[in-house]
Amino acid sequence: MASRDRTQVGIIGAGPAGLLLARLLEVHGVDSVILEARTRDYVEARIRAGVLEQGTVDLLEEAGVAERLHREGLVHDGVEIAANGRRLRIDFRELTGKTVTVYGQTEVTRDLIAARLAGGGPIVFEADDVAIHDIETDRPRLSYRVAGEDRSLVCDFVAGCDGFHGIGRPSLPASLRRTVDRTYPFGWLGILADVPPCSDELIYASHPRGFALASMRSPTRSRYYVQCGLDDKIEAWPDARIWDELRLRLGSEPAPDITTGPSIEKSIAPLRSFVSTPMQHGRLFLAGDAAHIVPPTGAKGLNLAASDVHYLCRALLAHYAKGNDDKLRAYSDTALARVWKAERFSWWMTTLLHRLHPEGSFEAQMQRAELDYLASSRAAQTALAENYVGLPF
Ligand code: PHB
Repeated sequence: MASRDRTQVGIIGAGPAGLLLARLLEVHGVDSVILEARTRDYVEARIRAGVLEQGTVDLLEEAGVAERLHREGLVHDGVEIAANGRRLRIDFRELTGKTVTVYGQTEVTRDLIAARLAGGGPIVFEADDVAIHDIETDRPRLSYRVAGEDRSLVCDFVAGCDGFHGIGRPSLPASLRRTVDRTYPFGWLGILADVPPCSDELIYASHPRGFALASMRSPTRSRYYVQCGLDDKIEAWPDARIWDELRLRLGSEPAPDITTGPSIEKSIAPLRSFVSTPMQHGRLFLAGDAAHIVPPTGAKGLNLAASDVHYLCRALLAHYAKGNDDKLRAYSDTALARVWKAERFSWWMTTLLHRLHPEGSFEAQMQRAELDYLASSRAAQTALAENYVGLPF
């Protein structure tokens, strides 16, 4: 592919945020170039979460990449919360009229890359030393190196969709940036296995031994997580120990039917809440993990990236179609209003379900009372359901 030196929107990062933004812009006639530090294989193999809100599905439809999602995705009407020897079903459809779709982020990424390349839109993989220049002018520029050759891309706008460790966020002036964060004193050990799921729906379990989650990717592929120590090493968790632990933690009445098998992926991830404000400066706009991280307990990470992209895309289209920059100016405030609510929900789910405090302590007692209240109150269940299925854009 011939190298380009000019585009309308320069996008850093070929994760779900950058790819979705590029596809939506393309559908609406706006040109972009994506720069990605990694290889295509690496990006397509990353295992991430798997629950899509209806709003995210709608955006993937608009982007023209929902065909396989509709064929293979699993529509879920609810989830179960297992705690204190009880299993409580939260019925999304009944409580909110909405559902979620279980479809791996890995698959979303593959579909988006395939559509982008089929449409002829450029993705530059293995772009090294990407740097952002002149964001306070109306001609921001990206410099990078590919296969040893220095290149430069002049843009109207730059979208930093390059994740928590990317260069997007640190390219905003340090004097303007404010961050808040919370780290949690535990991690999640995740396991992927080609065995049928133990239940038709996801089970979030709060147990004295720690949190556990039963999830899935398909009728033949399961994804499970257990709360583990922050310093735990993967070698200390052979498959057999994980399956034993899952049986104990998920094993409230009636015991789920866990089929075990060899893991095809296993990893430990820390949990954190993090927000950096503002999400824009000059002509640089951040979307997704570049600006905020949620702990995975609320299944919000990918969905928040999608809503950021929705707001950013609408703002860019108003600029190009009508010369109206109101939405661009408001982008950070608009996106953050939704981000903070998803942060709240993710933090609430995390503190509700993990073992954080000694049995008998005030905090443990509050957790128990909160779970009892949830079990007895339709209002409380509705609050959980409407956040889980996704607040309106
Ligand atoms: C997953 O399937 O990977 C998953 C599902 C729900 C969560 C987090 C992860 O809350």
